Amino acid sequence: MPLAAVVSEVIDGERLAAGEADISFSEDIPAGMVVRADGEQLYRVILNLVRNARQAIAASGRPGEIGLSAVEDDEAWWIFVTDTGPGLPPKAREHLFQAFQGGASKGGTGLGLAIANEIVRGHGGRLELRRSDERGTEFAIRLPKETAQLAPPPPFADDLPAEEAEEVPPLHRGGTEAAE
Ligand SMILES: Nc1ncnc2c1ncn2[C@@H]1O[C@H](COP(=O)(O)OP(=O)(O)O)[C@@H](O)[C@H]1O
Ligand SMILES: [Mg+2]
Repeated sequence: MPLAAVVSEVIDGERLAAGEADISFSEDIPAGMVVRADGEQLYRVILNLVRNARQAIAASGRPGEIGLSAVEDDEAWWIFVTDTGPGLPPKAREHLFQAFQGGASKGGTGLGLAIANEIVRGHGGRLELRRSDERGTEFAIRLPKETAQLAPPPPFADDLPAEEAEEVPPLHRGGTEAAE
């Protein structure tokens, strides 16, 4: 999935949604960076993070900036979403990634970060809160390049009597079927 295209789509939509609020967006995604992820799901994850940042800045009544950047190393792609907003409220920090628990806003479901975290984990990756204080917040998405981490758990073991379950050979992991 070409990352720059996904990021641009999110920013275009959120720039519109920002309306009158004084929010600027910046993106620094290496040209041609392609990550292995479901495009729709990756869009949802990035949208959730950027929308949270946009809403937090708007609610603060102050100007702010939202930045998206990415880097890669041998093992993984890293996508960073930073903002200069007010930081996560304590309740959201305590219940980070827990459904229905951390939402502080009216109209929010408290599901966004929980869903984003599940999607990233479904890609064998992780979602990290890097920093959050009164100067802003930074989330990092790590997507591994190693496809072995994408393999599902063994599907049959639970259905078999214990003795037979032990005969089930270890599943082949690390297929090449993962969607690009
Ligand atoms: N970038 C951010 N800056 C400040 N607060 C944030 C940020 N991202 C998330 N939050 C806080 O975390 C809460 C949980 O976020 P989320 O799971 O997306 O639920 P929702 O947006 O539906 O409330 C939000 O209500 C908000 O208080
Ligand atoms: Mg949200």
